[in-house]
Amino acid sequence: MSTQAGGVPVLILREGSSRSRGKEAQHSNIMAAKVVAETVKSALGPKGMDKMLVDSFGDVTITSDGRTILDEMDIQHPAAKMMVEVAKTQDNEAGDGTTTAVIISGALLDKAEGLINKNVHATIIIDGYKKASDRALKTLEKIAIPVDLSLQGYLKKAAMTAMASKLVAEHRGYLADLAVKAILQVAEKEAGKYKADVDDIKVEKKPGESVRETKLINGIVLDKEVVHSGMPKRVENPKIALLDSALEIEKTEFDAKINIESPEQMDAFLKQEETMLREMVDKITATGAKVLLCQKGIDDMVQHFLSRKGILVVRRIKKSDMEKLSKATGGKIITNLDDINPADIGYASLVEERKIGNDKMTFVEGCKNPRAVTILIRGGTERIVDEAERSLHDALCVVRDIVEEPKVLAGGGAPELEVSRELKKYAGMLPGREQLAVECFAEALETIPLTLTENAGLDPIDILSELRARHEKGETWTGIEVHSGKVQDMTQAGVFEPLAVKKQIIKSATEAASMILKIDDVIASGKMKTPPTPPGGPPGMGGMGPGAGVY
Ligand SMILES: Nc1ncnc2c1ncn2[C@@H]1O[C@H](COP(=O)(O)OP(=O)(O)O)[C@@H](O)[C@H]1O
Ligand SMILES: [Mg+2]
Repeated sequence: MSTQAGGVPVLILREGSSRSRGKEAQHSNIMAAKVVAETVKSALGPKGMDKMLVDSFGDVTITSDGRTILDEMDIQHPAAKMMVEVAKTQDNEAGDGTTTAVIISGALLDKAEGLINKNVHATIIIDGYKKASDRALKTLEKIAIPVDLSLQGYLKKAAMTAMASKLVAEHRGYLADLAVKAILQVAEKEAGKYKADVDDIKVEKKPGESVRETKLINGIVLDKEVVHSGMPKRVENPKIALLDSALEIEKTEFDAKINIESPEQMDAFLKQEETMLREMVDKITATGAKVLLCQKGIDDMVQHFLSRKGILVVRRIKKSDMEKLSKATGGKIITNLDDINPADIGYASLVEERKIGNDKMTFVEGCKNPRAVTILIRGGTERIVDEAERSLHDALCVVRDIVEEPKVLAGGGAPELEVSRELKKYAGMLPGREQLAVECFAEALETIPLTLTENAGLDPIDILSELRARHEKGETWTGIEVHSGKVQDMTQAGVFEPLAVKKQIIKSATEAASMILKIDDVIASGKMKTPPTPPGGPPGMGGMGPGAGVY
């Protein structure tokens, strides 16, 4: 960057840096964001296509999940990366609707570009978009259908809708039931409102069998085997101790030397070690525990003693799993063997090691009213179980969303069209150029029914005009059902989505579009591998060598 100061150019950027600004910067950012939106477009909806993604190790992922696609794509352009952030925010906040959020964001930018070309300033567009977004959120609230949580119909239907576009769609009824049961099991009521944490549901997967064999376990499944062959592999109604310290003699941090001069001394030394280890075992058996689940390592000798006492032991369990075990069994994690409280002990009706596929897993099941549960996913191949996991994630999030905010909307583009119609009316009440921005927002929302239609191989022009006309007549829930290809009432089609997902889509998409529009200056520091040596001197001295893309 140079400025003339008394005729002498002043350089403030290092050579090799590049800068673009004004419309040029806006244009290239918008282009990049649109390309990202374009990439995920064909994956939207039940008739959307899957993407096959190959990473640098040659590993293949097949998915139609918006966030996964963008995550795996290794995107470089800074504005395009912001679109990836949209998908991430959407996923973290609502758990579903990632593809939709990215598509709407791309459409908002596309429409904004048209306005910029007509010399509408970006600030005006951003203000207009903000107003439109607020209005859209209000409209969604207004049309939302309240849900009675004692009836699980909506929960299941929403979970099924979330999985409709996935590889495992044929099993969605079955998986949806599991998702609903799991969330209701871990949900807690606080001040009349439910709270549920998807993290309280452990998802384990093992290729083999079919997706139908996926099971909900009232407890925790550990991908670990029992530590010693002499131990029981099955214990009924055990007391369970959860321990997060090691059952070993601690090694000192420093190298210590002990001089042993006689065999008796050696013997005494070993005896003492053994006594210490035996004491540890005694402290555990004193609790009455028949199962010990340990986060750390266990000395061979301790394993041997414990096996002689008939205790089933699993070691090196992940910290996160220990926490879930605590929630499931009702036991507390014990840190110090010296102060074990009887109240720290947990229960399950069965702890058993089973062979699942080629591996041994330990089931801690039949917990009474567990606050954490497990879904063990099965499926023909690794790819199927991976995609089943992603689909189940969406389903769990969607059920959680409704449990926490019991309102739903019908899908198939109906809410987008209804909001779009409302915004077009609203635009008429606004002054001049902001009106244009709100109209653009309204049009951007129509990309959702449009894309659903296109992906189903239907005629977008005919269908969109029919949809518009019927919404004009007051048919709030008319959308496009993509399996039948019919324009119909989507509540009849049983396609429901949480209000929380749709609200988050509007928020994430508007935020990202505004952020990208606000940028009018892109300064990139040059990271050249071999800096060119300009004729006038060494690089980095502010010389005006060639290749200095600075102005
Ligand atoms: N049977 C159906 N007919 C029409 N649209 C549907 C149907 N089932 C789901 N949809 C729509 O598909 C969209 C979600 O598609 P999806 O691929 O899951 O994308 P996202 O990542 O945005 O959740 C929603 O707009 C939803 O209403
Ligand atoms: Mg979805």
